[in-house]
Amino acid sequence: MLQLQFKPELHYFDTCREFAEQFRISADDIILTNKYIYEPFFGSMNLPASVVYQEAFGAGEPSDVMVNAILESIEGKSCRRVIAVGGGTIIDIAKVLAVAPEGARVDDLYRDMANLSARRELIILPTTCGTGSEVTNISILNRTTLGTKMGLVSPAMFASKAVLVPELLSSLPYGVFATSSIDALVHAVESALSPRATPYTHIFSVKAMEMILRGYQVIRRDGPQARESLMKDFLIASNFAGLAFGTAGCAAVHALSYPLGGTYHVPHGESNYSVFVAVLKAYRAVRNDGRLAELEAFLASLLDCGKDEAFDRLGDLLSAILPLKRLREYGMTETDVPAFASSVLATQQRLLRNNYVPLSEEQIAAVYASRL
Ligand SMILES: NC(=O)c1ccc[n+]([C@@H]2O[C@H](COP(=O)([O-])OP(=O)(O)OC[C@H]3O[C@@H](n4cnc5c(N)ncnc54)[C@H](O)[C@@H]3O)[C@@H](O)[C@H]2O)c1
Ligand SMILES: [Fe+2]
Repeated sequence: MLQLQFKPELHYFDTCREFAEQFRISADDIILTNKYIYEPFFGSMNLPASVVYQEAFGAGEPSDVMVNAILESIEGKSCRRVIAVGGGTIIDIAKVLAVAPEGARVDDLYRDMANLSARRELIILPTTCGTGSEVTNISILNRTTLGTKMGLVSPAMFASKAVLVPELLSSLPYGVFATSSIDALVHAVESALSPRATPYTHIFSVKAMEMILRGYQVIRRDGPQARESLMKDFLIASNFAGLAFGTAGCAAVHALSYPLGGTYHVPHGESNYSVFVAVLKAYRAVRNDGRLAELEAFLASLLDCGKDEAFDRLGDLLSAILPLKRLREYGMTETDVPAFASSVLATQQRLLRNNYVPLSEEQIAAVYASRL
């Protein structure tokens, strides 16, 4: 059984300037980013690379339509390296640019996932503290024809180098900090409960949970600005969680969140959050033992409460970071419940196989219904 998969070299710099100097950015590089991230940190360096701003191709998280437009725009450009400087949206698009053959479009890549190969070197600098995507081989795209988000997975999509530069997170708005760090927490928890968890992934899962929840306790006590001195911890915690779920996988929380993200465009971390504690309680209702009982005990020790209250106290702490909305507030209705539950079963088996306990279509529908 695979114990720990970690392909990229991992680099760390305090500043963007140190990164640019050491990595010798050249005219053969394409930097995929957002203007409002690139300009303040790299603009004055006048780097020779081609810079592509994702927002010129559509708003929000990546869809097949957006990625196809970017692929078309770079056709014929000479490019040895793709350098992603951004959140999960930018990173997941860059992974596609690194493997897409000339002329290929997103549907072709999903059709031929098993045969993808690395065509360009990929370097990733995350600017949020959530996805851990800099160390995983998955790209999550909204397949607009199917109405849900799906993972494109290939060993060819591993970056050659993941580069952590906490300076890049200094401009992160509070809302994105909150949703992305909750995503990282969910990665840590789902990978800890996965049947594919190993003693190695477990170390990363547990440390990520501890760093994120301790950080949240400081922010609950001292206010949102207290996050500024914690950004390096949150960036490293999200990277740890990425290393854990890169081997052990994510599960039902992610699976249930995808139709919500795909249909109502709820940011990824927020859609995970909307079903997170409800999924943990659904597991507990089926079986309260093993890794789930260990998780409850661990959370209880961090949250200073009894084991039986751990999931509720976790919900309380998270709601101090980001108020929890009902699914109705995103536009979801009763009629979506059976449709979403059946879509999860049909399109998210990659994730559902990592559930702590199997959840039936009825149990998945009940989770959605409890959060409506
Ligand atoms: N491939 C994986 O392993 C994986 C894992 C989890 C999530 N994801 C995907 O990642 C996406 C979500 O990524 P995310 O949570 O990082 O958010 P994001 O990349 O969608 O960014 C959210 C917003 O914050 C802005 N932003 C990002 N960094 C900033 C900074 N430093 N300063 C100012 N603004 C900044 C972005 O431009 C964007 O407008 C989803 O599409 C999700 O499905 C992928
Ligand atoms: Fe995620």
